[in-house]
Amino acid sequence: MNILVTGGAGYIGSHTVLELVKRGHRVVVLDNLSKGHRAAVRGIELVQGETGDTALLKELFEKHKVEAVVHFAASSLVGESVRQPAGYYHNNVVKGLALLDTMAESGVGRLVFSSTAAVYGEPLEVPIPEKHPTVPTNPYGATKLALEGAMRWYGGAYGLRFASLRYFNAAGADPSGAIGEDHDPETHLIPLVLKSALGLIPHLEIYGTDYPTSDGTCVRDYIHVSDLATAHALALDALAAGSPSTVYNLGNGNGYSVLEVIKTAEEVVGRPIKVKYGPRRPGDPAALVAGSGKIMDELGWQPRFADLKMIIETAWRWHSGHPAGFGK
Ligand code: UFG
Repeated sequence: MNILVTGGAGYIGSHTVLELVKRGHRVVVLDNLSKGHRAAVRGIELVQGETGDTALLKELFEKHKVEAVVHFAASSLVGESVRQPAGYYHNNVVKGLALLDTMAESGVGRLVFSSTAAVYGEPLEVPIPEKHPTVPTNPYGATKLALEGAMRWYGGAYGLRFASLRYFNAAGADPSGAIGEDHDPETHLIPLVLKSALGLIPHLEIYGTDYPTSDGTCVRDYIHVSDLATAHALALDALAAGSPSTVYNLGNGNGYSVLEVIKTAEEVVGRPIKVKYGPRRPGDPAALVAGSGKIMDELGWQPRFADLKMIIETAWRWHSGHPAGFGK
């Protein structure tokens, strides 16, 4: 299949590109490199540009005879989205609509969309099923949900079919250790725990110890980035085979507390990790765990790295081998 991957030089994007190429697909990456890394997609055709540039999109669709799009390019930090909603609406909704418009005009009818657990908001039940009400509590989740809504209506009117993948907490790195997570600034738990182990930051701050969980710290469902990558490939195959538009959760169905993550990381790195206890981070729900049965049943998706220790081992291989990430 000829596939355009927007945001393909980012963390989840680059791991998905690797998986798609391994499966024999022809991939072209569109990335503005504001967050992505050229080195994350070595050997892959990379076009530096914006998803909102409709002329460029048209040209790429024609030149590469694009049959499907995987759309990652977006802003994705919850806290930042609350402080700067305009940037999130512009990047995620306005540019996303430009992509949908151009796909409709150019007759590109298949889309796999990078969505998030943040569309659900505060969970009413855990594990969270796809039919859970969607009441996002921050602009990040709201903008992803807005594009999902547009995709649904465009689908009916213009014949677009999509799979929207709602990720829980993406973590880990390609087992080869060649590519991995490199954000600036880094805000995610597992990379910060490992940076603390490497002495790259003075300590990890634990955000809140008074949550209604078994040890008082937040519980999350960590999913390996390569398992996410496989899910994108399966969703593309299903769309190619004629499957209707749908939404899938992606997690392992197991919740781990912040303290359990730190303890497991200490086992992996073989040394204690310096932590400090701080207040809650605004907007963090106590527990988020995915019900991922739907994608298992319908697409046969199975995680290869369901175990938290395996996830952290692969992340450690990347971070310890590349303490400066991809470099400048
Ligand atoms: N945490 C700390 N200290 C840190 C960083 C994180 O204690 O320095 C805690 C957080 O409070 C949270 C957990 O570790 O309980 C995980 O935090 P992350 O920042 O790694 O991930 P989030 O759960 O906040 O965010 C993830 C995705 C988002 C998505 C969100 C849905 O990264 O894209 O889940 O709620 F929107």
